[in-house]
Parts: sequence; structure tokens; C-alpha cells
Amino acid sequence: MTETPFPAHGRPSADLLEELREERKGDLDWRGGRAFSLVYHVDDPELEELQHAVADMFLHENALNPFRYRTLLRMEGEVLDMARDLFGAGAGSLSSGGTESIFLAVQTARDEARARGVLRPKLVCAVTAHPAFAKACSYLDVELVALPTRDDGRADPAAFAEVVDPATTALVVASAPCYPFGVIDPVADIAGLAAERGVLCHVDACLGGYLLPFWEQIGEPVPPWDFRVEGVTSLSADVHKYGYCFKGVSTVLYRDRDLFRRQVFMYDAWPGGLYASASSAGTRPGAPIAAAWATMTHLGRDGYLRLAGRVREATRGFRAGIDGIDGLAVTSDPDLSVFEFGPDPSVEGAPDLDGVCDAMDAKGWNLDRQQGGLHVMLSPGHDAVVDEFVADLAAAVAEGRQGTGAAHVYGGVVEG
Ligand SMILES: Cc1ncc(COP(=O)(O)O)c(C=O)c1O
Repeated sequence: MTETPFPAHGRPSADLLEELREERKGDLDWRGGRAFSLVYHVDDPELEELQHAVADMFLHENALNPFRYRTLLRMEGEVLDMARDLFGAGAGSLSSGGTESIFLAVQTARDEARARGVLRPKLVCAVTAHPAFAKACSYLDVELVALPTRDDGRADPAAFAEVVDPATTALVVASAPCYPFGVIDPVADIAGLAAERGVLCHVDACLGGYLLPFWEQIGEPVPPWDFRVEGVTSLSADVHKYGYCFKGVSTVLYRDRDLFRRQVFMYDAWPGGLYASASSAGTRPGAPIAAAWATMTHLGRDGYLRLAGRVREATRGFRAGIDGIDGLAVTSDPDLSVFEFGPDPSVEGAPDLDGVCDAMDAKGWNLDRQQGGLHVMLSPGHDAVVDEFVADLAAAVAEGRQGTGAAHVYGGVVEG
């Protein structure tokens, strides 16, 4: 017998909804701008209503066979067209999230390398690359080579040059930006090296993909990072991050269609019929596809530009506030709205960051603890909390608490 045995009798929906509403009151409140990861808070009621409405409309549809549900098919094709237009890609597919997009790009590169006779190929990245690459390597029998970064937190092309070899390497990876520090790797140098050596190059723009084009357009410095850069052969960008859709949708894109075809799985030896699939899932929920289409179409370039402006305001406010607090410093020089701050190395007796985070937790903020500091990822909705955050952070530092040893955790496992 388990703690929750399978129910012998069903319960009325009103009863269940009441239970959940009550329980949820104790959950993390991202709507108040006091959470910094996992949810991208746009604070736009019209967009949210639209997402609820289309999710409801397509809740039960299944995109396993896209030709069965014509409206979904049209929307999926249009989301991919819009993504290809934004990044200059030749072909690609949707997936359920950044990790799946990364898996698919690694599998594609592995199979391309195997076709060249490299049987257990390597993937070369910086240590700041998202752990989805380590996971994909582990699942797909690819050797991970994670190189130290330069002092500025960006991948080091010179270190890549020492190990990238077409006889052993399937893929090199650059992040735009990396999650821990929000810095963009030198994509042009890394992709140029890959092209010179005849190796594929993936840009992980899961985080920044749907913000960077607009960040650049509002006048922020953005080094070239997408398919405009020679040598970039694939790219991942998540619609469920700065694309502002709810969870369950990412894009994985390729410079050319032939490379994308390596991602596609076809099987015709099954009595149930020909099985063709571009991603790892079989059954695919309709709601994220419909919501991705509705979100992109509703916002358009002008909507994304407006939201990029709000993210910039929040970023400027947070950074200036943190810089103004004695003993704290932002790590590296982040290119975007995602960054770490920690104890200022030039200040003697800088604060204990675990203690600062404990004090911020007590004030209802939910900062993420990294190995060397605290992490913030700013959404448009954070523009409303800048002053409150900075005042609370200054007070938390002034408290001078010592940390009680809360864990520094990014992901977790629920084991049944
Ligand atoms: C840079 C980067 N790549 C990949 C991922 C993985 O995306 P997901 O959590 O959607 O699988 C993330 C998630 O934050 C990320 O920041």
C-alpha cells in the first residue's frame, strides 16, 4: 500500500478545485514579481486570457499525426516559419522544451559524425553550457568535453582550438547567453573555428533566443549569434522562455534542411502504419503549439519590442541597485537580463551570500542560489518591484546574517 492508494471512488470536481485553491495559497507567488526563475511573468492580462482560451480550445488535440488536426498543423507550420524568419534558419521543428531541443541537436550531430566514421564522438562546450548537454551526452553516448571559461565568464575559443578535431568531435556549443552568468559566448569565433575544421556548431539560445533580436533593436549591444554567423549549423530557442508562452514549447532549427532530416525518425515496419516523427515525443499536446502561435501572433515584433523595453528597465534598475550596495557585485558583465551577483571580491568582509538569501527568503523573495552567488532572471513584470527589491536587499545585507546552509539546487527528482 502506498501513501496515496488509487482512489476507490471519485470526488466531485468542486471539491477538488476547492482543495487545490486552498493549497495553492501557500505556493510560490510569481505574479507578485518575487520569483526569478521557472516562470516568465509578463503581467499582461490580455495575453494571459488569450493563452488560457487557446489552451482550452486545443486541450484535447494530439499533434502526433499533424495531418489529422488541420488547424494545429497550420499553427505549427506558422510558428516554425516565424522562428525561421527571426533567426534566418533553413528548417527545424518544435519540441517540448529546451532540453528536448538540445537532445535533438546532439542526436543530429552524433549521427552526422557517425556517418563520417566517428563512432563515439565528442561534444565540446564551456562549463557554463546548460546541463542539458551533459544529460544528452550521457543518454546518447557522446563524450562531453566541458572547458573552463575566460575570466569574463565567456567560452574561450583558444581552449576550443586545442581540442576540436573533426576526427573526434561531433559538435561544438556556444551559449547565447549561458544561464549562470547571462553572458554570450564569442559565437563568431567558435563557429568560425568549427567551420574551418569541418565540425557542426550549435548555439544554445534556449534562454535568449526570443529576446536577443529585440534587445538588439532597442539599441543594446548584441554580438552576432544566430544563423547570420558563418559556421552556426543549429540553434535552440525556447518559446516558453522569453517567447512568453506557457511551458511545453521550444524550437530547434538548422541552417539547412539536409541536416534537419537527420533529426527525423521514420519507421515503416510496424503493422500500425508508417511512423514519422521529428522529436522524441510520440503524442504531442496541442495546447502549447496553439499557445505559441497565439502568443507570437498577438505580440508581433512591436509587442516583443515593448516587452524587451520593460525587461531592460527592470535589468537597469536591479543592476544599478545591486551595484549601489556596498559588498555586492554582479558577476562578469552580463549581456542580457539574466545574471548572478555575489560578494564583491574587492571589498574586505563582504557579506555572507547564503545569509543574505535567507534574509531575502524571509522577506518573501525567491532568489536562486548558484555555486558562487545569487541568480536573477528578469521578466517584464519585474519592472514593478525594482525599488522594493533593492531596499529589501540593502536591508538583508545590513542584517549581516550567517547562512543556515540551504541547498544550492537547480533541478530535482520526484521519485514514486
Ligand atoms: C541556456 C539554457 N539552455 C537550456 C535550458 C533548458 O531548457 P528547459 O528547462 O526548457 O529544458 C535552459 C533553461 O533554463 C537554459 O537557460
